[in-house]
Amino acid sequence: MSIMKKIGVLTGGGDAPGMNAAIRAIVRMAIYFDWEVIGIEEGFSGLISNKFRRLDSSAVSGIIHQGGTILRSVRCPEFKQRRNLRRAIKNIKEEKIDGLIVIGGNGSLKGAHSIQKQGIPVNFIPASIDNDVFGTEDTIGFDTAVNTALDAIDKIRDTAVSHERIFLIEVMGRKSGFLALEVGLAAGAEAILIPEIKFKIETLCNILRKGTKRGKKSYIIVVAEGAGKTSEIGKEIGKRVKGEVRVTILGYLQRGGSPSADSRNLASRLGGLAVKLFKDNKSGKIVGITRGEILPVPIEKVYLRRKKVDLQTYRLAKILGL
Ligand code: F6P
Repeated sequence: MSIMKKIGVLTGGGDAPGMNAAIRAIVRMAIYFDWEVIGIEEGFSGLISNKFRRLDSSAVSGIIHQGGTILRSVRCPEFKQRRNLRRAIKNIKEEKIDGLIVIGGNGSLKGAHSIQKQGIPVNFIPASIDNDVFGTEDTIGFDTAVNTALDAIDKIRDTAVSHERIFLIEVMGRKSGFLALEVGLAAGAEAILIPEIKFKIETLCNILRKGTKRGKKSYIIVVAEGAGKTSEIGKEIGKRVKGEVRVTILGYLQRGGSPSADSRNLASRLGGLAVKLFKDNKSGKIVGITRGEILPVPIEKVYLRRKKVDLQTYRLAKILGL
């Protein structure tokens, strides 16, 4: 039998489309079990400063299609300080929160782990446009960001073709190339630069030269933000090959917008499971996708591990983009 009566939920780090759908799923599943839900505003910062508010069923109605997070999010490096962690634990206990669900990326996962180590039951839901969280094949928001970036790149392709230009398009992803790889493959990019794979400008220029010899007149090069300074790479290419080079940085538009069906449904499934685990007296889990299946994995086992990009996909994109 579960001893839960009240659970807390927060969204941390960079927002991701589908976070609202996850909050909705958590609230509605908890109400189904007759539990109360406390929303913590502004992520870990709100835990320290007591920004708590009750979420009832109507508080989450009409949000499934909205990007961003109704609980708002703040980067909170101060949470690493022990006195702030202590204050957060005190606030959780004073509010009589029996279990906490954290929704976010890698930074939030570390925060969730530190709270769990203080004896508070915590479950974690991976949500990030970067898809760089170990322990899950997919994160909430990734699919939406891929499609948002793809839509922009398809538009850029039109003008690249008309003007016979070489375009470098920078996508987000922090230190990982998951977003760039998935978007680059879908866009049919001639080259994809990701931080995980070292590249030489000259090798890249050779790809362009060979393409031009075969009659290619325009190029799309997708650059992960962690792969290097896109404007500098663009300048170098411009010096070495014939053709006009242009750079577009897609930036924060990749974080917004209405979540795709995939992001919403992943959020609903993971949100529902995170609550159900508490019902079964299970905590300390990241709920994610393993080999296509929704599975809980112990936070302890994954919170320090680095997820690796699929090199087969990289090779495939390289062959197809030639
Ligand atoms: O983690 C999501 C992300 O959008 C990364 O892709 C990017 O590097 C970072 O957040 C930007 O962070 P901030 O919102 O703090 O500028």
